[in-house]
Amino acid sequence: MTGPRILAIESSCDETGVAVVVGGRRIEANQVATQVALHAATGGIVPEVAARQQLRWIIPTLAAALELADVGWDDLDAVAVTYGPGLIGSLLVGVNLAKAISVAHDLPLVGVNHIEGHIYANWLTEIADGPMPAEPEFPLLCLVVSGGHTQLVLMHDHGRYELLGQTVDDAAGEAFDKVGRLLELPYPGGPAISDAAVGATPTTRFPRARTKGRYDFSFSGLKTAVLREVTAYRERGEPIPVDGIAAAFEEAVVDALATKTVAAARDHGVAAVALGGGVAANRVLRATLDQRLRAEGLALLVPPPAWCTDNGAMIGAAAGYRYAAGDRADASLEAIPNLSLPWLAS
Ligand code: KG4
Ligand code: ZN
Repeated sequence: MTGPRILAIESSCDETGVAVVVGGRRIEANQVATQVALHAATGGIVPEVAARQQLRWIIPTLAAALELADVGWDDLDAVAVTYGPGLIGSLLVGVNLAKAISVAHDLPLVGVNHIEGHIYANWLTEIADGPMPAEPEFPLLCLVVSGGHTQLVLMHDHGRYELLGQTVDDAAGEAFDKVGRLLELPYPGGPAISDAAVGATPTTRFPRARTKGRYDFSFSGLKTAVLREVTAYRERGEPIPVDGIAAAFEEAVVDALATKTVAAARDHGVAAVALGGGVAANRVLRATLDQRLRAEGLALLVPPPAWCTDNGAMIGAAAGYRYAAGDRADASLEAIPNLSLPWLAS
């Protein structure tokens, strides 16, 4: 595979990721240092702690990625970095490192939107030689579900995004994490709820939220419903059926995500739907969407779980296309905590 070899840095939240990606598709190294164990002690991310950990781990992660890819500075064509959205202290660590590398090694700098990275995880492969898997075709419907975002995005072409709908309150991952805390499960709630729900019978059917926008989502009412359910067991002095409540909650979130995604796919005549973001690692979501889309004659694209949660390779994938389009940042690149995708006017 040919194309630019890009060093990609991701430090927007609590994962430190450094990758080497060729041609926006082929991973040569994808090192991730995670702070999950540290944040488990506080039951959530403390931004200042996350930033300090980024500072501590970014150089060892960089060194490990370069060693694994077996490349030196001269082998690289560009350095890319997430410049938003995310936590400001965490973002600054990666942005500052990328700028320093760009200046010191005279490498072009490419700024990448973290959400765009989650979408481009669908372009990644580890295949070293031989024919590449086919690229996703446009128009592509993307469901981005992470700790900070829940968006249905119609991608008309590289870099051309139309926002169809989004959450009006909590992000899907945020809902998983908050309900995980309610059920006294370990942080982060997403994988913990998913594990607890395996094989469990849902205790109830939680109501599905109504939203004004046809493709919007709402999860805060569901969180309140879970709290009410937990409180009812507590008041009756009964043990809380954590697994069954986890299953009922997961079913409600997945149903909401799948229903709106399938409707949007049908309405917009796309050939395929791509999943991205940490919640895309969820087994029930993957299986449900796959089944419902298949029934419509549509394909589901979904990266392996390790490429769904934050990592450097997805930033290298998005950077490959930004680089090819001539996108270059310079020393004035800033970290933008509330950066959004560049929406097409609808
Ligand atoms: O994309 P990501 O790594 O970071 C952000 O950009 O936010 O997503 C993290 C989110 C967390 O809320 C976590 O609970 C959720 O993804 N998550 C999951 C699963 N694995 C991670 N949610 C549901 N099921 C999972 N298996
Ligand atoms: Zn993310």
